[in-house]
Amino acid sequence: MTPPLHIDHAALDGRPLDLLVTGIAQLCTVHEPELEAVGPRRREGLGALGLVEGAALAVREGRVVATGREADLLKALGADAPVTSATRTVDARGRAVIPGFVDPHTHAVFGRWRQDEYERRVRGESYQAIAAAGGGINASVRDLRGRDEDELCALATGRLREMMAWGTTTVEIKSGYGLSLEDEAKMLRAARRAAQAIGLDAVLTCLAAHEVPPEYRERRGEYVQLVTEVILPYMASEGVADRCDVFCEPTVFDLADSEAILRRAAELGLQLTVHADELEPFGGAALAARLGAASADHLIRIDAAGRAALAASRTVAVLLPGTVFTLGLKQYAPARDMVADGCAVALASDFNPGSCPILAMPLVMSIACSQMRLTPAEALVASTLNAAWALGRQAVAGSLAPGKRADFVILDGDDYRLVPYRAAHNPVAGVFVGGQEIMLNPE
Ligand code: NIG
Ligand code: FE
Repeated sequence: MTPPLHIDHAALDGRPLDLLVTGIAQLCTVHEPELEAVGPRRREGLGALGLVEGAALAVREGRVVATGREADLLKALGADAPVTSATRTVDARGRAVIPGFVDPHTHAVFGRWRQDEYERRVRGESYQAIAAAGGGINASVRDLRGRDEDELCALATGRLREMMAWGTTTVEIKSGYGLSLEDEAKMLRAARRAAQAIGLDAVLTCLAAHEVPPEYRERRGEYVQLVTEVILPYMASEGVADRCDVFCEPTVFDLADSEAILRRAAELGLQLTVHADELEPFGGAALAARLGAASADHLIRIDAAGRAALAASRTVAVLLPGTVFTLGLKQYAPARDMVADGCAVALASDFNPGSCPILAMPLVMSIACSQMRLTPAEALVASTLNAAWALGRQAVAGSLAPGKRADFVILDGDDYRLVPYRAAHNPVAGVFVGGQEIMLNPE
């Protein structure tokens, strides 16, 4: 079999390369051309890594120009994309290279941590009981409303920088701790500025329907109206958010409220995503599939009907095993059943101060492999290409296909399986976004 060589032929115009990475023992391109047209990866396709050994990676103007075996690649590019004194060369010295992680579900803008609630849960109180006693999401809402955009931006910048140091190069960030027009917009503006400040690609999601705020406790319908008639139209018209999310659970926003909010968001041109079937098998996944949502997330309690609905749709099933781990629950999402049924499975951190302070995608992969039995290869595709599909970013991120943004990670070992295997070890030796090296320790 000829080893794969992928070239962006439109880029062969004689101009020199900007960056050439050589000496790659194992390059996981996650690019399999015959699978790309079909949609997000499913079944056996979920584990297809587009592996090349003894590889090189060529970059120009922030995009991947070519990947393949080093000697073949240099010969094929030749004078059409030459290596000159203007080209930066990086020797990976026998290590592995993977696409940058795409984390398609985070709540990365918040004020204080909630380690007090963590201790209470460890002592036996449930997440729901703590929330009913004034903790949970509303504790973060009270805290966030008292902080200004600059302060939130500074806090978020530090956290996003930490994510990048663990290899994340595209991230989704939700609002949902403001629960008023002003505070939700403040959160998302802080998120946009923080991501821009460190060169991280961010997709922003309005999650005004995360909880009913205290001042609307007895007027839930009026809050749904505020979301559909005021908050979402503002987010869409001002370009503050790209997407809309709803916490769809019987005790938070039921199916009818969720559908009303999501339909309005779709009319406004926002992409849809849903916190679905986390606490109860409730039909949230089926709703997401029916409305053409980009993703349905959590899915711990999804049933066979929910799996069938997702499998028949393009809605990506985003699993968040770090949350199950942190909450110490016994049940993880049924990942193997979902893969067998043909759902397009992705992984995300769910980074937030309540149910999941984990932001490291390598650790999320470890938990996914050990606890949900994804293979290391499936977990890698779920954390890169399928995660990009979950954000509608598959044309630019998630794999090292020619023409995509050159977002990649040089590992500190020679095999991608070291990533989930060495749980809690940071396997990242270098991070590049758009072909530019990110200084991991700028101070
Ligand atoms: O995704 N499920 C709802 N929201 C978050 C938890 C947020 C919080 O506790 O602050 C989640 O797990
Ligand atoms: Fe979440």
